[in-house]
Amino acid sequence: MARITYRSHGGSRAYWQARWDDVDADTGKLNLKRYPGKFAEDTLRRLTVSGPILEAGCGAGRVVRFYHQQGRDIIGMDFIPTAVQKIKQAVPAIPLTAADVEKLPFADECLSCVLAFGLYHNLEQGIADAVRETRRVLKTGGHLCAAMRLDNIQNRMIDWLTDRKQSGGERRFHKINHTQQELKDVFSRNGFAIEDIYFVENMPFVYKFRPFRAASHKTFDETKGRAEGYRLSLLGNAVQKTLIGLFLPAFCNAAVIIARAK
Ligand SMILES: C[S@@+](CC[C@H](N)C(=O)[O-])C[C@H]1O[C@@H](n2cnc3c(N)ncnc32)[C@H](O)[C@@H]1O
Repeated sequence: MARITYRSHGGSRAYWQARWDDVDADTGKLNLKRYPGKFAEDTLRRLTVSGPILEAGCGAGRVVRFYHQQGRDIIGMDFIPTAVQKIKQAVPAIPLTAADVEKLPFADECLSCVLAFGLYHNLEQGIADAVRETRRVLKTGGHLCAAMRLDNIQNRMIDWLTDRKQSGGERRFHKINHTQQELKDVFSRNGFAIEDIYFVENMPFVYKFRPFRAASHKTFDETKGRAEGYRLSLLGNAVQKTLIGLFLPAFCNAAVIIARAK
């Protein structure tokens, strides 16, 4: 059974609702050299079947907006209607839908690709049902790119540090963490052939600690980090590079799986 992270908030849906209430829709800018753009590009290059692309769990819309601007046939989907509405207000022409990844409003085998960055690890009952549902809507030979939280040393340390800081309040489900083997098993058993697994350092571990952050990022602000990149001091960069260079699977945030629908 995968390891669960609990936090003192109102549960996954309340967490995302509060997050997307707080921010504007993303612009259509996407850095194709870094997560998630780098992995979206890698996946789209592999497509051999035709049909629309779905970005499942599109959030504030950076990925779906970028590919819509590029002229791709892409649909954005998220279970928080506010997030979807904000993107729609910014760009009325983007096809969007508010739905749950466990019950996708699409016919069988109609999509060429599903991009799902940071989505499946939000599922409290486990990810198998959602993986099967994703397979249902993909054409055979279509591709899935899924980024999920890893069960590794870094995420265990982050959870331990966060638990120490949390003051009371009911602890509710936050994220589900899988080992590399658990991820391989669940995707292989539910209709996918895994083509590649990458380890991704999205937010550098040392960015959690003030002394390692750049002068302009001394106050921890995830939205700023997401927009500008998580900027580190010279010392922070040196420590982070060493951790990543020596122990990447242990000191990264997520695994990105690129898989083909069998
Ligand atoms: C880490 S965010 C990623 C946003 C976007 N993909 C990006 O990379 O900028 C994960 C998104 O998944 C959405 N989400 C979580 N659980 C979901 C579910 N069961 N069905 C659909 N969307 C969900 C959240 O609302 C959130 O927008």
